[in-house]
Amino acid sequence: MKDGSKAEITPELRDFFADATVVQDPVSYFNQLRSQCPVLREQHHDAIMLTGYDAVLDVLSRRDGSFSSSVSVAGPIPPLPFTPQGDDISALLEAHREELPWSAHLVSFDGEKHSAHRALVTALLTHERLKRTEDYLTSLADRLIDKFLPRGECEVVADFAHATATYAICDLLGIPEADRAELLALLGPAPTSIEGDPAHKIGPDPLVFLEARFTAYIEKRRTNPVGDLMSELAASRYKDGTLPEVKMLAGLARFIFGAGQDTSARTIAAAVRLLGDDPQLQRRLRAERHRIADFVEEVLRFDAPTKCVFRLATKSTTVERVEVSAGSVITVGLLAANHDPGHFENPALFDIDRPRLRDHLTFSRGAHACPGAPLARLETRIAIDRLLDRLADIRIAEKHHGPAENRSYRYEPTYMLRSLSELHIEFTPA
Ligand code: HEM
Repeated sequence: MKDGSKAEITPELRDFFADATVVQDPVSYFNQLRSQCPVLREQHHDAIMLTGYDAVLDVLSRRDGSFSSSVSVAGPIPPLPFTPQGDDISALLEAHREELPWSAHLVSFDGEKHSAHRALVTALLTHERLKRTEDYLTSLADRLIDKFLPRGECEVVADFAHATATYAICDLLGIPEADRAELLALLGPAPTSIEGDPAHKIGPDPLVFLEARFTAYIEKRRTNPVGDLMSELAASRYKDGTLPEVKMLAGLARFIFGAGQDTSARTIAAAVRLLGDDPQLQRRLRAERHRIADFVEEVLRFDAPTKCVFRLATKSTTVERVEVSAGSVITVGLLAANHDPGHFENPALFDIDRPRLRDHLTFSRGAHACPGAPLARLETRIAIDRLLDRLADIRIAEKHHGPAENRSYRYEPTYMLRSLSELHIEFTPA
């Protein structure tokens, strides 16, 4: 790659945003791209694909305004509502920002608006609050396990992981007990689904179905605080002392609810799959419970539930010496970076003893780095600890996934998330 050369188009590439084989095995796809160049342009949606660790870290960490998060979740789908022109599209973007999906949510904000609202969220996700939720998470895991334990088998995604993550975030936010089961049932497929025509699946606000409910929660707590996270959010103020609108606060609460749900559930399912597929590792973790935290970290690297996030180049710039023109939509390959052999030795090996386990980019980096990471880690650690305690051995159910030497797993058809559709296990109750 010559300095300043344009991102090359590789016509033989499969469509990352629609191809079912990429959904099944995204790592091979990312490896194929990286072996050509860590910064490439794909031809199906004209998106730039970043697959090298340094390129990904560079784009996520830039603070000079050359990359916008306005397309963070949906990426190039649907396409930009304007035609980029020139070497700086900042003004064009501001004129059309609200037409982009997810524009009402924190993850898509930029600059000062982003820091002002992120500060409201990070003030709530404190270490003390997490500590207080530990006992709840333990008893939650035990109650869920009680339900399927006598059967000697379960489907981990529906019977355990999804409910763990949803109830955990409900408890953290302070969502009334009476509403929790309904919310669990309401959560539908991921917003970046690639079944059918994705362009029509993403509305201007994919979390809109929760709007009335969360607005009511915040309004009620403004007049009648009950000491939970949403009460604190309802009373929060911007740095300059002004009170945010209820609509904005309800939006933040909805986003925390959505963001803290599916990704954590998928991490728990991925962790159980890895344990079921590696009896030796399972035995080791049973004997060395203090290593569960390292195991969770390696699960996050190896099978990141967030395959990628997206950015929009607002100014013409370079990434790893490759020219990126203003208006380019960039796929920032988090899972790709986690498998870059330039950063992780033998990345295809699942190894809880590898150095710098926390180097993975699964929670993103920079201004938007996931503020829920400590909760996600805690939930997964406790879930795995309780499963190891209550299930004497965890085996992948061969009647659903085939024999050990020829397993088959199905992943949800979404281009952003890495999500096992189902995971059937068998076990002996302890
Ligand atoms: C394993 C579980 C999780 C993963 C892999 C994950 C991943 C991510 C990623 C990659 C981003 C950054 C997006 C970007 O850079 O554009 C993000 C942002 C965010 N996450 Fe998480 N997340 C997880 C769990 C949670 C939980 C449990 C919560 C809530 C308690 C949460 C709340 C948020 C929020 C509020 C943001 C937006 C931050 C911002 O834009 O400044 N996440 N998450």
